[in-house]
Amino acid sequence: MSLQQTAEKNVTVLIILIVLVVSVGGLVQITPLFFQTSLTEPVTGLKPYSALQLVGRDVYVREGCYTCHSQMIRPFRSETERYGHYSVAGEFVYDRPFQWGSKRTGPDLARVGGRYSDDWHRVHMNNPRDVVPESIMPGYPWLQNNAVDVNSTIRKMLVLRKLGHPYSDEEIQNVQEMVSGKTELDAVVAYLQSLGIAIKSRR
Ligand code: HEC
Repeated sequence: MSLQQTAEKNVTVLIILIVLVVSVGGLVQITPLFFQTSLTEPVTGLKPYSALQLVGRDVYVREGCYTCHSQMIRPFRSETERYGHYSVAGEFVYDRPFQWGSKRTGPDLARVGGRYSDDWHRVHMNNPRDVVPESIMPGYPWLQNNAVDVNSTIRKMLVLRKLGHPYSDEEIQNVQEMVSGKTELDAVVAYLQSLGIAIKSRR
């Protein structure tokens, strides 16, 4: 019996052959990606999140902002005209996990950094309708009452350093100074203002 006939008659042999073919095909596609520096190296000017931005990012995840906002501009004219340069892999090297998403009840936020003033964000986060009357975004008024926790921030940075984020000892020593007295609202605003600025938006 030829291999063809065996595979057609014996389902175990067929499954083994299918798994083999799919694995080889998968590896051929995936393996080279690990060695392409444009996909694994940070883009020029990208810095790991500062202590305050890092806290803001965690608040963003905790509050579920990603359920309405994506952070990935696709390479289509309709998107680049509106949001600026399309997103590239090297911008997300320090995002664990990334916040790409595809659900856009609100606008994409990948390049919102620098688009509005800090004051605009403060008012908007507290009650979006104060600045955008037709907005359906919920307000997050409690963020301005929650203090940032210094110790957990330091611990997060130490873990990220183990994973390869280049935090210096000095940066970690300065966390106390940087975040004490700050609120979660300050942190979210700092985070939003950092988004997408390594590659300048066209606007
Ligand atoms: C229920 C969906 C929803 C959720 C959840 C949500 N947003 Fe929004 N967001 C919107 C909508 C809709 C807009 C557009 C209207 C506006 O500007 O308020 C918007 C606008 C924004 C803008 C202005 C973007 C721009 O380019 O004009 C920012 C910044 C923003 N949201 C941040 C956040 C943050 C941070 C969170 C989580 C704390 C969050 N949003 C949660 C729906 C949402």
